[in-house]
Amino acid sequence: MTQRTAFVTGGTGGIGSAIIRYLASQGHRVATNYRDEAKAEAWRQAMARDGIEAFMVQGDVSDPVACEAMVRALEEKCGPVDILVNNAGITRDTTFHKMTYQQWTDVINTNLNACFNVTRPVIEGMRARKWGRIVQISSINGQKGQYGQANYAAAKAGMHGFTISLAQENAKFGITVNTVSPGYVGTDMVMAVPEEVREKIVAQIPVGRLGKPEEIAHAVAFFTGDQAAWITGANLAINGGHYMGW
Ligand code: CAA
Repeated sequence: MTQRTAFVTGGTGGIGSAIIRYLASQGHRVATNYRDEAKAEAWRQAMARDGIEAFMVQGDVSDPVACEAMVRALEEKCGPVDILVNNAGITRDTTFHKMTYQQWTDVINTNLNACFNVTRPVIEGMRARKWGRIVQISSINGQKGQYGQANYAAAKAGMHGFTISLAQENAKFGITVNTVSPGYVGTDMVMAVPEEVREKIVAQIPVGRLGKPEEIAHAVAFFTGDQAAWITGANLAINGGHYMGW
């Protein structure tokens, strides 16, 4: 397999870590951004114990200026970004009638505007080199909506609109753009949902359990491989059967 440089935003989180591990196990150079220095150092050590050396660059994906600098720093160390996974995301759950403008914009900026901020500095290089793989990590709740997540569902649905437009614009340049929409995976984000609410959600999952981060990483690796060259603009739901809409 050709070794490539993969940039996974939010790589220190639950799904992001699994994606980094999977792509590293395929022989790719892996990189992520981080915000919190102490958390990043603990993560770096855990990866190193497993023989994974991830390049780490500090910066917030909601900040376009920081993203440009992050990508340039990364490219200096690891070479041009061939694989980009827009994975960083946050929740600020609350019913809409109680939602503040801050809760709205925090989620839109980090989950959706970040797609612009991070993809814009890498796309021209991918087009020039005639090869690229871009994957948006969206959510089941961008497909079906969710009580308490008007901000998050709007951002996650927007990510797939971004995917299908970029897919059309860049298909002739050897670049595929796809979306993976995970359901409820056993990460810190999902475990922060109040237990009684979470139990009711799990009861709606036909497979009968939360997803595992590795099950999402597997799909990302599928999309980023050379053999997936004819798959572009797809939205792959991975949710244990929780939502089966078209
Ligand atoms: N459908 C209908 N009614 C619901 C409901 C639902 N899905 N969820 C809650 N309610 C009802 C409650 O039964 C309650 O009704 P009563 O007042 O009649 O008793 C009422 O809504 C509570 O409403 P409040 O406005 O008081 O809400 P709250 O402030 O207590 O909290 C909430 C609401 C924050 C949305 C909370 O229910 C919650 O955390 N829900 C989970 C949201 C969720 O799924 N987040 C996903 C996070 S993980 C993630 O996002 C990853 C991913 O991609 C999947």
